[in-house]
Amino acid sequence: HNRYGINDDKTSLASEFQEFERSNIRLKSLLGEGNFGQVWKAEADDLSGHFGATRIVAVKTIRACSAQVTLKDEANIMRKLGSHQNVVTLLGACVESEPHMLIMEYAMRGRLLSLLRAARSATNILPASVPGGRSLTPLSPRTLAGFALDIACGMEYIASRRIVHRDLAARNVLLDHNGMCKICDFGMSIDLDAERMRKEQEKNAANDILRSNAQKFKFDFGSRYILQHWQHTFGQGHGPGHCSKDHSHGEKKSHHGHDTIGKRHALPIRWMAPESLQYHMFTTETDIWAFGIVLWEIATLGSTPYSQLTGREVIRRVPQGLRPELPKESRHEFYNLMSRCWHKEPHMRPSFAQSRLEITRSLHKWVDDDS
Ligand code: ADE
Repeated sequence: HNRYGINDDKTSLASEFQEFERSNIRLKSLLGEGNFGQVWKAEADDLSGHFGATRIVAVKTIRACSAQVTLKDEANIMRKLGSHQNVVTLLGACVESEPHMLIMEYAMRGRLLSLLRAARSATNILPASVPGGRSLTPLSPRTLAGFALDIACGMEYIASRRIVHRDLAARNVLLDHNGMCKICDFGMSIDLDAERMRKEQEKNAANDILRSNAQKFKFDFGSRYILQHWQHTFGQGHGPGHCSKDHSHGEKKSHHGHDTIGKRHALPIRWMAPESLQYHMFTTETDIWAFGIVLWEIATLGSTPYSQLTGREVIRRVPQGLRPELPKESRHEFYNLMSRCWHKEPHMRPSFAQSRLEITRSLHKWVDDDS
C-alpha cells in the first residue's frame, strides 16, 4: 500500500479498501456540478496515512434524486489507478452507505477547458505562476505543449492499467498548483480486467440467473474489446442506428460538453471515434481519438468540436470522414499528431507512448530553435 492506503498492486480490486469516516469531511464550497452530482472543495481529517492532519480535498457527491447512479465503480477504477502525477488521486471513499462520496486530491487551478477559454481574452486575469511551476501567463506554445505532454503521460499510464477512460476531454483535465495536468472523472471508465473477470463468471452462471442479473456491460473478448453499451444506455432495441428518433425531440447540448439524447443519458459524442459512434466499441484506441480532440481543444483555446453541427449530424458525418477543422495557428507537428489520432483505422492511430515521444521531441526542437 502506498502512503494514501491505495494499493498499487495491479491485480487487487477495491473490496479490500477501507471506508472513510464521513464525519471527518466538511464541505466548504461548490466547485462544480456534473450530470448526476457535485464536486465540493472540502476539508478532510485523518486521511489514511495522515492521522491528526487536515487536508484540503475535492469531494464528489451524488444527487439524491439519481438513485441508480453509484460512485462505487468510479472508486474502484480510481483505486486501481493508484497514484500518478498526471492522474487525480483518490484519497478515500464512502461507498458502503448513502450518500456516496469520493475524496480526491484537490487541483487548485481548476479545469483546463476553463483556463484555455480564459486565455482567449487578455483582459481575463490568469492565475499567477508559482516559482518552479509552469508559467500560465501567457499560455505560450510551450506551455500548451506541456499540457499535451502531461495528458499523454497520464493516458499512457491509464491505458497501461487496462482502463478505458471513455470521457477524455479538456473539461476532464484539472490543473494543480504547479500548472500540471491531472486527468479526472472516471465516471464512464471501464476496467478491462474487471470486465473480463465478470465475463468469466457470467460464462459459469446459469442462463436464467444471468438474465435476472441485469448486467451492466457485456464484452466480446476477441482481438479487440467490444463494449455493447448501447442497450444498457438506450434500453432494448435502441442501437445507435435507432437513436435518431430520440434525437429529433430530445437533443440538447449540455454545458458539460455531452450531447444528451432523450432525458437521462449523455455521451461525449463530439469526442467519440467513428467505431464508438457506429459500433459501440470503446478501446484504448478510441481514447487516443479523444486525445486528438483534446490536442485540438488546446490548439483552439477551448473551442467546441464541430460547433456548427448538431450531435445527430456529428454521429452521421464523423463515420463518413468528417474531422474537426485544423486550427491555422497551431504548430505543424501538433497538427500532424492530432490528424493521425483521427485515423479511421484504430490500429493506425499513434499510441500514447508514441504521442508522448513526439510531443517531447517537438518541445526539445522548439527550445533548440529558440536558442
Ligand atoms: N473539480 C472537479 N474535481 C476537482 C478536483 N479534484 N480539484 C479541483 N477542482 C475539481
